[in-house]
Amino acid sequence: MHIHKFEKIWLIFGVGTLLVFLTTVGVGAFYMGNQPASCLVTIDPEKVDETAPFDNPGLKHLGGNKYELNIITSAFAFTPNEIIIPKGAEVVINVTTKDVVHGFEVAGTNINMMVEPGYINSYTQIFDTTGEFLILCNEYCGAGHHMMSARIKVVEKE
Ligand code: CUA
Repeated sequence: MHIHKFEKIWLIFGVGTLLVFLTTVGVGAFYMGNQPASCLVTIDPEKVDETAPFDNPGLKHLGGNKYELNIITSAFAFTPNEIIIPKGAEVVINVTTKDVVHGFEVAGTNINMMVEPGYINSYTQIFDTTGEFLILCNEYCGAGHHMMSARIKVVEKE
């Protein structure tokens, strides 16, 4: 079989690039132990309701302007589905799922997480404007996906 010289160069270049890529990913994953950030905190998806902090979902005041918001996603709801947050609060949002993959997006903010069974996702956000924010599921999760939503209300501090 005759292979043209340029074809040979491209083949060597292509295979070489692939090998460099696979080696980089392989060394990172298996030798250096790199994993996606969300792999760090795990939970038994069948025991979400009994596992802290999700045994008592909702907003928790930690002191000062610091809060923790624990939300459970399931087909096809967010628990709780209406959250009232005082303006200026710094909120650590923790989300997990009891069943399939869901999304956790707060429209109009940078909060956007893919919620996978077995893992806890976290994001810290300061809510410094009052108003209503829509929480949406942006991963197709079944027949009721389009109805899966919740609301955050940021209100003036009393
Ligand atoms: Cu939950 Cu789509």
